[in-house]
Amino acid sequence: MKPYYQDSAVTLYCGDCREIVPQLGTFDLLLTDPPYGCSATTGWGGKYDSFSIAGDDTTELRDWIISVIDSPFILFGSPRIERPKCDAVLIWAKGEHTGMGDLAFPWKPDFEEIYIKGKSVFSGKRTTSVLRYNARTDSGRLHPTEKPTGLIVELLNKTTAHTILDPFAGSGTTGRAAKDLGRQCVMIERKEKYCEIAANRMRQEVLPMFEE
Ligand SMILES: C[S@@+](CC[C@H](N)C(=O)[O-])C[C@H]1O[C@@H](n2cnc3c(N)ncnc32)[C@H](O)[C@@H]1O
Repeated sequence: MKPYYQDSAVTLYCGDCREIVPQLGTFDLLLTDPPYGCSATTGWGGKYDSFSIAGDDTTELRDWIISVIDSPFILFGSPRIERPKCDAVLIWAKGEHTGMGDLAFPWKPDFEEIYIKGKSVFSGKRTTSVLRYNARTDSGRLHPTEKPTGLIVELLNKTTAHTILDPFAGSGTTGRAAKDLGRQCVMIERKEKYCEIAANRMRQEVLPMFEE
């Protein structure tokens, strides 16, 4: 299996994770943001066109990955879909410029859920389970569901996991955070255009503020 990109911290495969994951070894942690099972929608309830998320119609891919990877996990999800079996739920508060949803309803859907499994591998200073990081909404964002790197860094800092798998890598935020923290990460992404974006992010130097 030839990686699309590889350096001393990150390996990225371009392809369907259902074919690639069975050929990989074990990992300390599964940290991923799978297709949510609710279809990627714009703030106005319409579907993204050029930004459609492969496999976003059902929770099948999410349920498949947690059935084959027997590791602790950190998984992103939506309050609109059924939660997977997990030990804890965190909230990602996405900031005031998100969550348009139903404009007639007086609360905005401006958060996502983060499912944690394998409590024993998580440690560190006790902090709130509401994580506030603004989602990128500007035209320069790299992926329609791009996660803030600082959010992933905060999550990774609560675990000693050294080897991390992200089989739904998108623009490569997990790899970027792992590399900045001196961890090892294997990523898989089906769409080549996101592999290219992720590879370009990996080529950037480690940011000193995240070095251990
Ligand atoms: C929710 S996005 C991840 C976004 C990422 N967290 C980021 O910060 O950019 C999920 C990604 O999984 C990819 N994907 C969907 N099905 C896949 C599959 N079977 N194998 C590998 N990647 C897949 C999609 O193309 C999409 O980019």
